[in-house]
Amino acid sequence: MSTLRTQVAIIGGGPSGMLLGQLLHKQGIANVVLERVSAEHILGRIRAGILETGFADLMREAGVHARMEREGLPHEGFAIAVNGHGTRIDLKGLTGRNVLCYGQVEISKDLIDARIESEQPSYFEATDVTLHDINTTQPSVTFLHQGQRHSLHCDYIAGCDGFHGVSRQAIPASLRQEFERVYPVGWLGVLSETPPVDHELIYCRSQHGFALASMRSPTRSRYYIDVPLSDKVEQWSDAAFWAELQKRLPPEAAANLITGPAIEKSIAPLRSFICEPMQHGRLFLVGDAAHIVPPTGAKGLNLAASDVATLYKILTRVYHDNDNACVPLYSQIALRRVWHGERFSWWMTRLLHNLDEQGPHDKSGNSGLRFTESELHYLLSSHAGRTLLAEQYVGLPYEELSA
Ligand code: APR
Ligand code: PHB
Repeated sequence: MSTLRTQVAIIGGGPSGMLLGQLLHKQGIANVVLERVSAEHILGRIRAGILETGFADLMREAGVHARMEREGLPHEGFAIAVNGHGTRIDLKGLTGRNVLCYGQVEISKDLIDARIESEQPSYFEATDVTLHDINTTQPSVTFLHQGQRHSLHCDYIAGCDGFHGVSRQAIPASLRQEFERVYPVGWLGVLSETPPVDHELIYCRSQHGFALASMRSPTRSRYYIDVPLSDKVEQWSDAAFWAELQKRLPPEAAANLITGPAIEKSIAPLRSFICEPMQHGRLFLVGDAAHIVPPTGAKGLNLAASDVATLYKILTRVYHDNDNACVPLYSQIALRRVWHGERFSWWMTRLLHNLDEQGPHDKSGNSGLRFTESELHYLLSSHAGRTLLAEQYVGLPYEELSA
């Protein structure tokens, strides 16, 4: 077994791990990334792509913004269409801010390129990653890489290994409180080399179900429809997908729909999940390792970024100012924002999908979802309602560490 040494061991090379690694590197803090799969595998995973200002600023701080500035599409608004009638949410006019449309694959690519340039060590295809002594001042992580076993000694461990990772499990079950809601639908997503139906996103609620018209570039579209959780992706031919999407889009958008072969097609389940606390001893959980949101508000990646921002500021204080007092604050600072994002994502999901959760029922048990329709009608017709939506969509400010 070889012995390695670093300041911060980062488990997981997704956006959380790679962004944290790059920010720490910029501050002169040594770190090692241990990732289970190859870089190619990471770049093959299609995920969301709406960045809050806070995320874009963090990419700038990490010095990985050049391509994002060139190719990212600033979006000053989006639309919510209810039974074919669209209302624009004027993000810029209502909040003074916009969001940036830039795919997660591109973010990962920029971060992996920066990692290679930084010459900070990364071990891709590392297996058997195991955390040790997290409750002491000398934690370590053992792993297997190309047939060789290594023991990585460090000061802190950042668990950035996603929902199915090992880090969260290293916190004793008796000290963890996990909150979960699994929704009865999934999102069937299609990526296609066709121009989007509109230059902004359209979230649609209709009697046929939910749909989202999104994009990756002026020539590449990303569309979603909700389907029962039991559906398999093989059941959905490209033609069946386009026909169903057409029914759910408002008529003007449906008229603009250009179909083409699906470059990627997959079903993602919808889940709300939160693990409290997000730290234990010298281990911090970051991003999907600690929380999952349903995608209806594009908060997953953005919550990961706010965790990274908090942890990076704390570790910078530890190493630059010898100030350890802020270390125990990570979980509570991160969780305050996480719960906001979780609540917003659940609320957007409930508003836009036909989920019968609360309304009164008639004699045959049918609610007709009147409460949801009424709430949406109010929200969209009121300036205050649209502001409420816009403010949360562009993202709440990051919390500063107290002095
Ligand atoms: N050892 C090492 N790496 C692991 C392990 C393990 N045991 N288990 C998982 N990983 C790796 C995964 O292969 C993956 O590359 O950890 C990484 C986690 O990345 P993501 O799942 O993308 O999570 P995160 O980096 O927190 O990104 C934020 O929020 O809503 C989402 O779409 C959004 O994926 C994005 C995420
Ligand atoms: C996407 O483009 O993949 C996307 C955009 C907005 C969302 C979810 C996904 O809310």
